[in-house]
Amino acid sequence: MLKDPLSPLQSELSAASDATEAIKLLAWYDRHHRVLPWRVTPPEHRKGIKPDPYRIWLSEIMLQQTTVEAVKAYFLKFTSKWPDIQALADATEDDVLRGWAGLGYYSRARNLKKCADMIVSAHNGKFPASVEGLKQLPGIGDYTSAAIAAIAFNIPAAVVDGNVERVVSRLFAIKTMMPQAKAEIRTFTQQITPQDRPGDFAQAMMDLGATICTPKKPACLACPLQDNCMASTQGEPEIYPVKPPKKPRPIRYGAAFIILSTQRQIYLRKRDDKGLLGGMSEVPNSDWVSATEAQSPQEIAQLTSVELAPFTSNWQASGSITHIFTHFELRLSIYKTEAADLPPSNNGWWVAADALSDEALPTVMKKAISAVLPDAFKQVATKKAPV
Ligand code: ADE
Ligand code: SF4
Repeated sequence: MLKDPLSPLQSELSAASDATEAIKLLAWYDRHHRVLPWRVTPPEHRKGIKPDPYRIWLSEIMLQQTTVEAVKAYFLKFTSKWPDIQALADATEDDVLRGWAGLGYYSRARNLKKCADMIVSAHNGKFPASVEGLKQLPGIGDYTSAAIAAIAFNIPAAVVDGNVERVVSRLFAIKTMMPQAKAEIRTFTQQITPQDRPGDFAQAMMDLGATICTPKKPACLACPLQDNCMASTQGEPEIYPVKPPKKPRPIRYGAAFIILSTQRQIYLRKRDDKGLLGGMSEVPNSDWVSATEAQSPQEIAQLTSVELAPFTSNWQASGSITHIFTHFELRLSIYKTEAADLPPSNNGWWVAADALSDEALPTVMKKAISAVLPDAFKQVATKKAPV
């Protein structure tokens, strides 16, 4: 663990406020905690209700993917279908991927299933009750192991997600740029994490970051930690965490082909298991190719051309869609045709237009299909981080 030299002001503040952050924050959390479907609230704790590691784990994996608001519905759907780890281990990977559809980043769903299988086969159906034990499991890294250890097992692990990074970098006015500041932030988080109620402390930090210590215009006057906060004292808390200048996202181009049968069915196929959106369903589409600035409009037109269609037909241009992934922006030109027979040289399947929501279709493919069938999907989850 990195030993951080504290600036004189930092040492003074941290000595003066030793353990007070936790006490103040927990008192705030007792009054202002959010009520969430996976959470055991302070009044429930007092009644002796214990958190269920399965539900904590599932919620933490989902929350890495999208907002608390969007996760609620997925969490309720998942837990009513698969109420415990055994039920999830008994499900097929396809079922789990279907339940995950719309959340994005499907390797998380595959790891979720692998983790359930491993807990049932190698851990007697019980989550290990230690950070190190949890970290051995598929899909569980530094953040998730600490979060489950703290929230489900009351272990004083330093739980550092994006909210906590923001709060802690402000409390200690950390000047180091992200992501290099992560080690320092972890050290400070560990330092203020209490032995008593570490799980509530972790959740309180997250709630504070989500509701008070927001990225823009933090509500310092309503913050229980204002007296301990160097950034607020200095007057410009929103400059923390210090971030490097943003690089622009490259743009990739491609074409997607919507094939309709005479009975309003759509032709789908399965993506390769490896790589982006691995194992998900898709409509036939071309490679997604990055256009560097040197490429001419003619060359870009080639990347989205109807000539990339899987077979010759009466293709009609049907507009284009854009989808933002983490590392690139995708622009797909959409073409449609009617075809009575299965297209040659593709092993896919036909799906009725009104049954499309049962397919494991990623958002980008829902957008592509919606360009031709606007009512095919009623609701598409909003992403926190684009995938
Ligand atoms: N974000 C990630 N984990 C969370 C939790 N347990 N409570 C609230 N927000 C969260
Ligand atoms: Fe964030 Fe302001 Fe509270 Fe500091 S005082 S932790 S900047 S809300």
